[in-house]
Amino acid sequence: MNTLITDSPEEAAGFLNRGELVAFPTETVYGLGADAFRPEAIAKIFRAKERPADNPLIIHVHSIEQIEIVAASISEQAALLIDRFFPGPLTVVLEKKPSIPDLVTGGLQTVGVRCPAHPLANSFLRCCSHPVAAPSANVSGRPSSTDWKAVYHDLHGRISCILKGPAAPIGLESTIVDCSVEPPVLLRTGAVSLEALLELIPSLKIASGCSAEESPKSPGMKYRHYAPSASIILLPADPERFSPEPSAAFIGLTEPPGIFELVKQCRSPEEYAHELFGFFRSCDARGIKSIYCELPKEKGIGRAILDRLTRAACPR
Ligand code: TXA
Ligand code: MG
Repeated sequence: MNTLITDSPEEAAGFLNRGELVAFPTETVYGLGADAFRPEAIAKIFRAKERPADNPLIIHVHSIEQIEIVAASISEQAALLIDRFFPGPLTVVLEKKPSIPDLVTGGLQTVGVRCPAHPLANSFLRCCSHPVAAPSANVSGRPSSTDWKAVYHDLHGRISCILKGPAAPIGLESTIVDCSVEPPVLLRTGAVSLEALLELIPSLKIASGCSAEESPKSPGMKYRHYAPSASIILLPADPERFSPEPSAAFIGLTEPPGIFELVKQCRSPEEYAHELFGFFRSCDARGIKSIYCELPKEKGIGRAILDRLTRAACPR
């Protein structure tokens, strides 16, 4: 299959409206979209990404009004979150409308809904006939794609079109809050921070992370994620100096603690988030064997970076 690269949202939406797959930019990461109401198009997402069929997809809407096409009800707390953070880097899990194909939700009775703030994503979604189901636009298990070249690298020949935009400004996937339960549960951290969520919903619970023994509330949590081919080694903040083995790389917020083949020293946690997945991919392209990652402080977007680093470091 030929993969067309375009910067026209109308042209990209044309493919999607014909049942094809289209990758598109959002402010978090690039998504791999299909018409949420066409099961045969949804099935293509799972094939292209090699994604396990029980891992549900987030549905993307262009406006708050569109939420009622996919959700059967919106709880009071969900309404608070939607009012404050939509459009933006937040996904809320709601009770689903019966019309949503089971393939989208992996058989769950709930659906993840997100309204991206990215202007190109919004134009694209407005040209689509229905809401758009989209996971991150990477092969399953690999780091999410934060620019169109990463999408092309993973998925060219497997998808019909890439809507080409700038690099994703945030660089980490959306925060996910399950509002189908009382009290709501934070399933994934992201740019909408725990601190900001607690201000609105003081009773918010935090899901038990990537502990493999428990039955995960978010099916995606049981899979190893965000991982480059190189092994990930976590370093404490302000690491002591050491002599890394050859073919090692460093990413973090302080001076590199030794001599590395590839280095990314970020000036803020936001820059760290923005650079992380691209750095993982550059390391793979260079054949780097180990990536030393400095752990940021557990607050704000630092919590989301910590989460992605910990998962990437999980044994295969
Ligand atoms: O920023 C993002 O969220 C990006 C952009 C493209 O929107 N999307 C994304 O999708 O990261 P994906 O599929 O890579 O991650 C979605 C996560 C998965 O872990 C999935 O299990 C979880 O959301 N999820 C989706 N629907 C769910 C539901 N109904 N209940 C619980 N978890 C759900
Ligand atoms: Mg993903």
